[in-house]
Amino acid sequence: MTAPDSILQLNDIYLTTQRAAKSAGSTIRRLSGSPRKIDYKRTRDMVTNVDRAAEQTIIEIIQSRFPQHSILAEERGEIHNPDSEFEWIIDPLDGTTNFVHHFPAYCVSVGVAYQGEMVAGSIYDPIRDELFHAKKGGGAFRNGQQIRVSDTPDLGKALLATGFPYINDELFELNMRIWVSLYGQTQGLRRAGSAALDLAMVACGRLDGFWEFSLNPWDLAAGTLLVQEAGGMVTAICGESFQVNTVPHIITGNPTIHQAMLERIVPYLKGVELDKPC
Ligand code: IPD
Ligand code: CA
Ligand code: CA
Repeated sequence: MTAPDSILQLNDIYLTTQRAAKSAGSTIRRLSGSPRKIDYKRTRDMVTNVDRAAEQTIIEIIQSRFPQHSILAEERGEIHNPDSEFEWIIDPLDGTTNFVHHFPAYCVSVGVAYQGEMVAGSIYDPIRDELFHAKKGGGAFRNGQQIRVSDTPDLGKALLATGFPYINDELFELNMRIWVSLYGQTQGLRRAGSAALDLAMVACGRLDGFWEFSLNPWDLAAGTLLVQEAGGMVTAICGESFQVNTVPHIITGNPTIHQAMLERIVPYLKGVELDKPC
């Protein structure tokens, strides 16, 4: 991106993330009255015809406006252009298990990285008609109104969330131990089943913090930018700096709660083999 072009182009990209997320949300709403056609990626990891249709909606919008850009889409994989420094990172339906069960917690997530750094992103909740959107350096918004992370001052007054991966491995066991330990130290813990929506909830202060192991870039792309632009902290689970394509285990929250979570969670990581060790 050369300097004079950059602001205009970034704005165009930003507006396109919003349009793509909302259009995919309309696709989800339109199809959600019909029976879901389910395929199993693994025993508990599902993909439906609606995930695929929403993803197609997003890809068509991106390719009609930015045909040269690379895309990483959860269901379709990579559409890679080695000459492009832009990568669109898409989760067309985050919270598929909830969607299959008609449990109302799922969303669309569309983020854009430039040279590996998140620069724009939108998360759309088609149930509440809430669009969360952020542009690097431009703040975070919900339906056009600026949002901030909470100012909850201590863990004892905090509402936190986490999630659990589809596979019950040692990280699942570890996270259960962390859950048990944090439960009594907070006002409550939640596991709603949509990591992108959890991040949007941190960005607008409905949650004070969120941590999870083994996430993918498409779960994290738009939501981590939202939290940062809303004044929150996002790091790897051991406190190292966050990179969307390489850091799957994260802690986020308002700055005070983020620090308090780090202090409680990091001791549990000693001796644990993470693919990205502390
Ligand atoms: C899942 C959700 C869930 C998280 C899983 C993700 P999906 O995404 O974000 O909250 O715990 O790790 O894979 O499969 O519904 O897009
Ligand atoms: Ca996801
Ligand atoms: Ca998904």
